[in-house]
Amino acid sequence: MTTRYVSGPHLARLLGGVSGERPVYAALARAVRGLVLDGRLALRTRLPAERDLAAALGLSRTTVTAAYDRLRDEGYVESRQGAGSWTALPPVRMTSAEPQVAAADGARPGTRHGGKFGRAHPVPDDPSFIDLGCATPGAPAIFDEAVAAAVDELPRYSAGPGYEPAGLAGLRQVIADGYAARGVPTRPDQIVVTTGAQHAFTLLAQVLAEPGDAVMVERPTYPHALGALRARGTRLVPVGVNEGWDVELIGGAMRQAAVRMAYTIPDFQNPTGHLMPAAERAALVDAARRADAFLVTDETFADLALDVDAPREPPLAAYDSGGRVVTIGSASKLMWGGLRIGWIRTTAPLARRLTIAREPSDMASPVLEQLIVRELLLRVEEVRAERAETLRRNRDALAAALRELLPGWEFRLPAGGMSLWARIGAPVATRLAEAAERLGVRVVGGPVFGVDGVLEDYVRLPYVLPPDTLRPAVERLALAFREAEAAPPARPLPAYV
Ligand SMILES: Cc1ncc(COP(=O)(O)O)c(C=O)c1O
Repeated sequence: MTTRYVSGPHLARLLGGVSGERPVYAALARAVRGLVLDGRLALRTRLPAERDLAAALGLSRTTVTAAYDRLRDEGYVESRQGAGSWTALPPVRMTSAEPQVAAADGARPGTRHGGKFGRAHPVPDDPSFIDLGCATPGAPAIFDEAVAAAVDELPRYSAGPGYEPAGLAGLRQVIADGYAARGVPTRPDQIVVTTGAQHAFTLLAQVLAEPGDAVMVERPTYPHALGALRARGTRLVPVGVNEGWDVELIGGAMRQAAVRMAYTIPDFQNPTGHLMPAAERAALVDAARRADAFLVTDETFADLALDVDAPREPPLAAYDSGGRVVTIGSASKLMWGGLRIGWIRTTAPLARRLTIAREPSDMASPVLEQLIVRELLLRVEEVRAERAETLRRNRDALAAALRELLPGWEFRLPAGGMSLWARIGAPVATRLAEAAERLGVRVVGGPVFGVDGVLEDYVRLPYVLPPDTLRPAVERLALAFREAEAAPPARPLPAYV
């Protein structure tokens, strides 16, 4: 079940030595846990035998045994006789903090702000723990009404089989109408409803790419998209977008690497928050045409402008004529991640291929959730307005706290989306994340959003939580940053193991 192995010397390098903290086994356990949490030690990576790690670190075997025991108790390591030990994550526990945090955000009670990269995160049993690991909000105010309307509608479907591999016709029609309203005429047979955008990545990677194909990705980008592409065995070709898109450079990279597919997030890019201007959209579609590549555009955040009256950029599909642009949409950020509904917009023939390809894995998406999303999409402007108001308030509070308490950190105020991408002025993001976790706040460091272990001088800071939670979060980050800066310089980090 494990797919990777990290040797003793390699793990010792990743650890960069164990801090002087006592007892040593606890410091070692904490450091390994930090590597698991920030993604540098992938899940289900087999750990070195205790004696090998002990030799590599110059510690006694008893110390390493005690550290592994602690990690096992905490759920970060699993072992089986004869199979060794491998990295894991503890099961998710609901904590008393969650309803309070959610309620303070105006979200529904019970909404969980658990982190996400790259697992079902545990939330420590401390009610004051603040989770900035996840950029996704609770459901909007009209959610209950949408659910009630969907339940009323359900009997029309429940008399039939309920399997609709392409998605309910009624939902596909509303999604298609949404594209038409944004200047991209679309028929329902061009839409495939998926189980979230994540399922859409997986399907597209499977249908559009072969193992070994080159796929262009932005750096930084959404980590689980990278996961889906890696799982398909594609070769990732990263292009930097920290300062926005340099389409000439991107076009050159696409042709040189002969990419089969390029993945972009043009609307309030996760994590940078950039919005691709119209001219660059046109140029990017043209570059994909010249490189003969599919351009997969992730519009998960497209409806999340913080000023709902600001003019919107046209979807990338508006510049396409040959079916090269494939669009991914999702209900998760605008509506609610728990619905697990996303979709793909493409040509009708490719939509049919994708529908056939999805059947062996999950057959079809759940009917009730599709009906709920349909109801919410019919009232999308109300949802957009609610999100914009809450997110703008939170973003401004986060920015004010950062300017006051961490004046050396640089960031742009994004015009949409749910997070700030902060340049922290020192390559210590991973250490910062680890220190922050100890001080009661979870953040995700830059390397998690990259392909190759770089971006150590960035962190992503979501502003989904309310101002009175964001302020103490930044206070803890300021302490953690001081700690991270004071620690001895890290050795250069290798890529994922
Ligand atoms: C850019 C981007 N795409 C897709 C997703 C996943 O969406 P879904 O919940 O629909 O699978 C996320 C979630 O964080 C995201 O940030």
